[in-house]
Amino acid sequence: MDPDEFHKREVSYIKNPNDDPEIVKAIDSFKAMSTYIAGDYEDGSAFDKLNAHLEEIESHYQSKERNRLFYLALPPSVFIPVAKNLKEHCYIPKNGINRVIIEKPFGSDLDSARELLGSVKQYWTEDETFRIDHYLGKEMVKNLLVLRFANVALGAAWDKNSISNVQITFKEPFGTEGRGGYFDEFGIIRDILQNHLLQVLSILTMERPVSFAAEDIRDEKVKVLRCIPPIERDDTLLGQYVAANGKPGYLDDDTVPRNSVCPTFAATTLWINNPRWEGVPFIMKAGKALNEAKVEVRIQFKDVTQGIFKDIARNELVIRIQPSEAVYMKLNAKTPGLYTRAMPIEMDLTYKRRFTDAKIPEAYEALILDALKGDHSNFVRHDELDVAWKIFTPILHWIDGKAGARPRPVSYPYGSRGPKELDPFVTKYGFKRASEGYVWPVASL
Ligand code: BG6
Repeated sequence: MDPDEFHKREVSYIKNPNDDPEIVKAIDSFKAMSTYIAGDYEDGSAFDKLNAHLEEIESHYQSKERNRLFYLALPPSVFIPVAKNLKEHCYIPKNGINRVIIEKPFGSDLDSARELLGSVKQYWTEDETFRIDHYLGKEMVKNLLVLRFANVALGAAWDKNSISNVQITFKEPFGTEGRGGYFDEFGIIRDILQNHLLQVLSILTMERPVSFAAEDIRDEKVKVLRCIPPIERDDTLLGQYVAANGKPGYLDDDTVPRNSVCPTFAATTLWINNPRWEGVPFIMKAGKALNEAKVEVRIQFKDVTQGIFKDIARNELVIRIQPSEAVYMKLNAKTPGLYTRAMPIEMDLTYKRRFTDAKIPEAYEALILDALKGDHSNFVRHDELDVAWKIFTPILHWIDGKAGARPRPVSYPYGSRGPKELDPFVTKYGFKRASEGYVWPVASL
């Protein structure tokens, strides 16, 4: 790339629908402060060139202190040489802070992750390393801590005595669309469940941390994850999308190997062996090429004691992570009027209505700022990753064919709710669909 091409690409996703002159000015000054140096990942002299360039920029500032933050979004094969070259050629030995942000994939199973993490550790300390999972930067994921620990009413019902089952759902309305090469190697479990959804699960289920300090939070997350045994095959449903409604199937993507059995949809149930959660199924579901874009947590409470009511709906607390952040609780109330009949209603906190002026930052915006400040709370610690891989590695090896024949995913049409086997799957774990005809009235916001 030449500098013009680089600048064109770096701002191509910045939205400015009304050509606001202030934004145009900001984009121009952003371009003016960013530069591009090309070089081979393995070549030490390329990193010397980068270092010389950084020193030149730093020479314009009066301060003796120089701080550098390196952001690595790289294929795993070049991860280690880059970590090494940055340390050996671009590291400031004194009067400054060096940090490195790294993006997934952090390996593909327990052994490869240990090898990768171990190698990076030779060059960068845990304190200097920020393993990013952008779900931890999402507003509603951050809100989980406050909802859980700042509300006695919710806290009191947060266990196996009140909760029947929990679903954590990720839905995307598009397929791999040209990104199949990357995706086929990893599959939906490595792409979404093992990192994004497991992070949500750990914050949802951990015990109250001693403080909001990074290590206190991460200690509790690791503790609850260690109570989760590896996922069983019987607790897993795998799917792959096929062509429908004029949209191509997964196997029609030229970047996908023929006859691939890679899952583009997965539902798995996890169990937490501790006194708070024993026997409560946590169902994680994720799929590409589905009917909508949605990420949400749905906590379904137990049936109310029968006797005075018949067919009364269960309470549900729904935390909608995206789009349109919301928290709503489905309750039963008396139908207004002269009857004594119960009907499902909702207590609803929809952000767009309640916080009309609030600007919710992008997840990466929040996290890069955290890394600049040196706050590790919303980054993944070394041991957290290790235990996450322990939970998923056996099922992944089965899917990869390392434990005999590879399982065949069931098919589902592009644009559908997922495989038809999904409804019986969630019913098996005690989920009861809300009463017929109930629709959350603000779902379209
Ligand atoms: C990424 C996955 O980590 O998360 C993608 O690799 C996925 O496949 C993306 O599309 C989803 O992120 P978001 O923020 O759009 O929910």
